Amino acid sequence: MTKYVIHGGKPLYGEIDISGAKNAAVAIIPAALLVDGVCRIENLPQISDVTLLLNILQELGADVRTVNRTTVDVDCSHIRNARVPEELARKIRASYYLIGALLGRFGSAEVPPPGGCDFGGRPIDQHIKGFVAMGANVDVRGGYIHAKASNGRMNGTQIYLDIVSVGATMNIMLAAALADGMTIIENAAKEPHIVDLANFLNSMGAEIMGAGTDVIKIRGVERLTGGTYSIIPDQIEAGTYMTAVAATGGEVLIKNVIPKHLECITAKLLEMGVDVEERDDAVLVRRTGKLTRTNVKTLPYPGFPTDMQPQIAAVLCLAEGTSVITEGVWDNRYRYVDEFRRMGAQIQVDGKIAVIEGVEKFTGARIQACDLRAGAAMVIAGLAAQGTTEIGHIHHIERGYEDIVRKLSGVGADIRVVVTPDEDKQAQVG
Ligand code: EPZ
Repeated sequence: MTKYVIHGGKPLYGEIDISGAKNAAVAIIPAALLVDGVCRIENLPQISDVTLLLNILQELGADVRTVNRTTVDVDCSHIRNARVPEELARKIRASYYLIGALLGRFGSAEVPPPGGCDFGGRPIDQHIKGFVAMGANVDVRGGYIHAKASNGRMNGTQIYLDIVSVGATMNIMLAAALADGMTIIENAAKEPHIVDLANFLNSMGAEIMGAGTDVIKIRGVERLTGGTYSIIPDQIEAGTYMTAVAATGGEVLIKNVIPKHLECITAKLLEMGVDVEERDDAVLVRRTGKLTRTNVKTLPYPGFPTDMQPQIAAVLCLAEGTSVITEGVWDNRYRYVDEFRRMGAQIQVDGKIAVIEGVEKFTGARIQACDLRAGAAMVIAGLAAQGTTEIGHIHHIERGYEDIVRKLSGVGADIRVVVTPDEDKQAQVG
């Protein structure tokens, strides 16, 4: 078993470099399937979700070459296979982007249902509604989603999303880039990674307009050709380190960010008494005094991101007074609360609402990451805690955070990776 061991209670000082955005990378890698020629993708984060998707492309027949630590060349020109291997795809949520990309490229796709973090139900009905409107038949049999364009190529059409969905918006963009005619997505999501996917596709020859607004128009083209593209910095990774400094105190310059993407997080930290100074491509976060309570409601962009909800909860646990969080995106994103309680937090959850009574401090405990962002929040709690915190199931965290231990150690955190014999296995054997 591999775990993080954190000796908490140390304020953080120094600089942290932010990596490329996970949720952009996991759509842009499948998007390479649409391109005839070599795509050079730069600023890729080194995380397990990226490795998995690149492996899936290789298994489909793509030529994937590592150029340097953060850059790969991907050439999907010779792929003839639209059936995605089950074992790899089930490990990752973003494997659903392979449906849109393969439909766009071949007019057919066979993809296992996606995996990923468990927040209650995670339907993909809006993705399917879009594919069907574009002329595909979609059904699930033999453990696979089978999608096939009835006339061999997707047709442009108008699609109104019933729910603002990041995944459905990007998946329909992928299916539409090479479609016959114009696709219009109404009530589209506006996250920075949606704009990044549009910019990637446009740089390869697509015609996508309006990404970042709630109406996106995609004029299908005959062909996309190779090029070079650099992924935007990760909004959520940056926000995670901003909240870490808020929880521990100290002063950290968080570099290689787009401050505009962080405004929703910055605004909340300012309300809580944390100083945040915007620079051109960095934010300086400083906390010296006490934290003030506040309320947070998660919403699609530009609202406060659901992917920052557990991390801001860790900070609110240490703020004076009562704070209320309303989760506005997922049905069940409070699975981390029991672990926080082991560390002394006082949180009551009722459905989508969490009421947090601030406490003086967290105390170190043995806890387990239950999903990616919850795991990051547990790291934050451990950094701020008095005593030692051991966090198990860290594979969840490593799905989405490049070098988290090195980055935090670099600003003074006492955090180590410790490998111990697998206690569960030993118990079974015994
Ligand atoms: C993306 O998930 C992200 N994942 C999630 O980040 C993030 O929490 C989420 O967007 C919201 O920002 C990736 O990009 C890989 P949605 P996605 O479709 O696309 C409902 C992380 O921590 N819905 O925007 O799956 C759905 O149940 C991950 O990095 C439908 O009802 O999210 C949810 O309530 C975790 N039908 C809401 O919409 C659908 O067809 C938003 O989901 C699709 C979604």
